[in-house]
Amino acid sequence: MMTNSIGIAVVGCGYWGVNYVRVFNELTDTDVVAICDQRTARLAEIGQRFPGAHQTDSLDYMLQLEDVDAVVVCTGATTHFEVASRCIAAGKHVLIEKPLTTRVEDAERLTTMADEAGVTLMVGHTFLYNPAVELLKEYLGRSDMGEIYYLYSSRTNLGPIRQDVNALWDLAPHDISIFNYLLDSTPLWVSAVGAKVLKNRREDVGFVSLGYPNNVVGNLHVSWADPNKVRQLVLVGSNRRIVFDDLNPLERVKIFEKGVSRVEPEAASYGEFQYRMRDGDISSPRVEASEPLKNQCQHFIKCIATAQRPRTDGRAGLEVVQVMTAIDRSIAQNGAPVSVEQIALSNPVMYPSQERVYAF
Ligand SMILES: NC(=O)c1ccc[n+]([C@@H]2O[C@H](COP(=O)([O-])OP(=O)(O)OC[C@H]3O[C@@H](n4cnc5c(N)ncnc54)[C@H](O)[C@@H]3O)[C@@H](O)[C@H]2O)c1
Repeated sequence: MMTNSIGIAVVGCGYWGVNYVRVFNELTDTDVVAICDQRTARLAEIGQRFPGAHQTDSLDYMLQLEDVDAVVVCTGATTHFEVASRCIAAGKHVLIEKPLTTRVEDAERLTTMADEAGVTLMVGHTFLYNPAVELLKEYLGRSDMGEIYYLYSSRTNLGPIRQDVNALWDLAPHDISIFNYLLDSTPLWVSAVGAKVLKNRREDVGFVSLGYPNNVVGNLHVSWADPNKVRQLVLVGSNRRIVFDDLNPLERVKIFEKGVSRVEPEAASYGEFQYRMRDGDISSPRVEASEPLKNQCQHFIKCIATAQRPRTDGRAGLEVVQVMTAIDRSIAQNGAPVSVEQIALSNPVMYPSQERVYAF
């Protein structure tokens, strides 16, 4: 093992966790020193592919290994708090898959614990490490984008159906993290409806509206019951419409230079505003070819090495959990608007007084 490399352990080596084992195994400044899973058959299967790592079904045993510096928590969402809190208590840096937790108070507790322990806490909001989302963010920062009107996304497929959370908790954290990042804010309120069309115990379909500051409206649709796999986000501004289609490798991002804007009324129009339509080019800028999960893992390592806060730190994860909690409450009230602010205010988190330095 290289002396300066960071020792990584991955807890939860199921469908998604094996990707972390692969990526951290490929990076030059990390070593996967341990893999941990309760399913011994799965453990043996992954262990065969990565024979250099300790294999264990015991989290306690894994946390005692001297060369484990950081842990990736990739177990089911409802277990994140229990597993991650033990890792932080053992002094490990932690990268937790989304959603950070399934309860606001647990997300707060983890954030505080990590700050007190002086370890890096990062959430796997993978899309914030997707070069296409970076490109969207760059376009939003340009003065010629105009006013942002609204944004919406669709994340549908046939399954895979989870046993621990509903389709909203499974899929919507992706879109909420992207919306929050692009708009540099969190929603003030949400209104959500869900349906159990598969006669499952949990919602397998969801439609959510999110009210962001400055009257920007977001909308997202998630489903496990749609035969058409869609991963699309559309951003509409006064000067441009931008479409991000993650399933279109040739034109992942498309810019439509079209818009409608209001012009000052002329005297003859008796004070009525006029609307001017503008037509323009459609372009598809080049999107850097890099694997979002790899970018995310590199960012985690950089944050550990430089003691900077990750782009998707505990606070960003907590904000998504607050929105998800508001969504749950709104679904229970058949779509009645629920204040996210109230959820945040009723559980204020005290952050360390020093200014946070983010790594980008
Ligand atoms: N970022 C993404 O694009 C993305 C994609 C898929 C899943 N995920 C997230 O990854 C996480 C895992 O999802 P998955 O699809 O791999 O689930 P999965 O059920 O396939 O795998 C979870 C694994 O964790 C193991 N496990 C559970 N509790 C454990 C414990 N206490 N100790 C050791 N092992 C334990 C299980 O045995 C299982 O093998 C979830 O949080 C999910 O939301 C993220």
